[in-house]
Amino acid sequence: MIFYERIPVRLRLAVGHAIWMALLFIGMGISVFKLVETNLNDSVNATLISSARAIRKARFTGDSFQHADKNTVLQEMLKNPAYLEQLSGNRVVRPIAQIINISGRVHSKTDNVSATLPVTPKALSRAENGLSTIETFTLKDNAPLRQVTMPVMQVGHFTGDLIQVGASLRHTEDTLAGLILILWVVLPFVLLVSILFGYALTTSALKPVKDISKTAEKISVDQLHLRLPVPLASDELRDLSIGFNKLLARLEDSVHRLRRFTADVSHELRTPLAVIRGEAELALRKPRPAESYCISLQTVEKEACHMTSIVEDLLLLARAESNSVAVTWESIGMDIFLAELVRSIHPIFQQHQVTLEVVETFHEAPFTCAPGYLALALKNILINAAKHSEPDSKVVFRVYKELGDGMIAFSVQDYGEGIPEKDLGYIFDSFFRSDTARNRFSGGVGIGLSLAKALVKLHGGVISVQSKLNVGTVFTAKIKMREGMV
Ligand SMILES: Nc1ncnc2c1ncn2[C@@H]1O[C@H](COP(=O)(O)OP(=O)(O)O)[C@@H](O)[C@H]1O
Ligand SMILES: [Mg+2]
Repeated sequence: MIFYERIPVRLRLAVGHAIWMALLFIGMGISVFKLVETNLNDSVNATLISSARAIRKARFTGDSFQHADKNTVLQEMLKNPAYLEQLSGNRVVRPIAQIINISGRVHSKTDNVSATLPVTPKALSRAENGLSTIETFTLKDNAPLRQVTMPVMQVGHFTGDLIQVGASLRHTEDTLAGLILILWVVLPFVLLVSILFGYALTTSALKPVKDISKTAEKISVDQLHLRLPVPLASDELRDLSIGFNKLLARLEDSVHRLRRFTADVSHELRTPLAVIRGEAELALRKPRPAESYCISLQTVEKEACHMTSIVEDLLLLARAESNSVAVTWESIGMDIFLAELVRSIHPIFQQHQVTLEVVETFHEAPFTCAPGYLALALKNILINAAKHSEPDSKVVFRVYKELGDGMIAFSVQDYGEGIPEKDLGYIFDSFFRSDTARNRFSGGVGIGLSLAKALVKLHGGVISVQSKLNVGTVFTAKIKMREGMV
């Protein structure tokens, strides 16, 4: 098997093709041979029988025998070499004939009978029953002899005379030997042609694969815009190329996002670092009163905290996305979970003067989750809703069990500014912020939603969003019910 796998596909197909052709050819050769052999045999037998019948007829009914000794006349006729040819109508099979009686006396025979034609006991016993016998003998140094022994009957009784017509099978054997020779000569030729043809055919059929692999070799992280050639014929190779091209497009997009992410991280961290440095330089420029240092250090602390929170969020995001975050699953009552969540975001809602309305129709307590991470994900969504709502509006937070797939759904609806349609595809990307007036002052760095998405995914779930500009937004996070719960 391993050996087989080492053989190149092209050769495998070519040899497979050749083997198949050879089997076909051998099968056809055998059939043709059998057909010709049967045909020749039948023809020889038919010739012999018809000759014997003709002689029998001449022996008894021929006009030429009316007045003369029938045997003598027949003898004369058999002596004429053209006679049997004429009788048998066959120029190729040259029959020999004799009329012999049961005691072995030859009445008449053709000239070309060198030895006496054999009379076997079997032929004799069949003759007594009025039956003809066809036999084949191999005479010394000679080709096999096919012979028919036909009894001469009179009024339904065996007269004791036998008509024997024989013919050498040399011609038949020569023909068959010639046929075998032709088949043996043609076979290697057929094999060679089919190997060459199969090889050329598979080479040309596999050309698109070669083209694809040539292009594939050129593709690297820096050349992700390259695409594989798509063959014109709609077949598996075309599907393969199209599939690969889609994969490349996704990879290109991922690499693009990754690069932007790196650039964004550097950018986000550069601003607080610049503030810290500027503050420190300013403080060190000349001696200052203690309060001044205190104020500078407060600024430094604030920026450092900001940086810490960015770095911590990023770290958690990276871990959640690579599934390497340590999760402790807990069974918790929905009421307790929601109460704690609402308590933690209450100050922010108050600050934005937005009311939070909780509608809970999930009555199957408790449920299993990683409470800290799930709460963080929902907090990010809820705080966004508060930040993007007008003062004195409300945010509706619904918790329910999805009927179709049995997931737990948390939906957050606000009646705020909404998200431009062109941005909808990007809001879950790290560092993405819609360019709205509110965003410019919100101070968020754009990690909130990507973190929420990763944390919900950790719970085997997804987040979806629906939004209409100046009407409002609904974020829905669905998580899977874990086994052994509810
Ligand atoms: N409820 C919402 N209404 C309008 N825009 C929103 C809402 N939630 C998120 N967005 C948009 O999605 C962007 C990404 O959100 P997020 O990842 O939480 O970043 P951040 O809150 O730090 O800006 C936001 O900048 C904002 O433009
Ligand atoms: Mg946010």
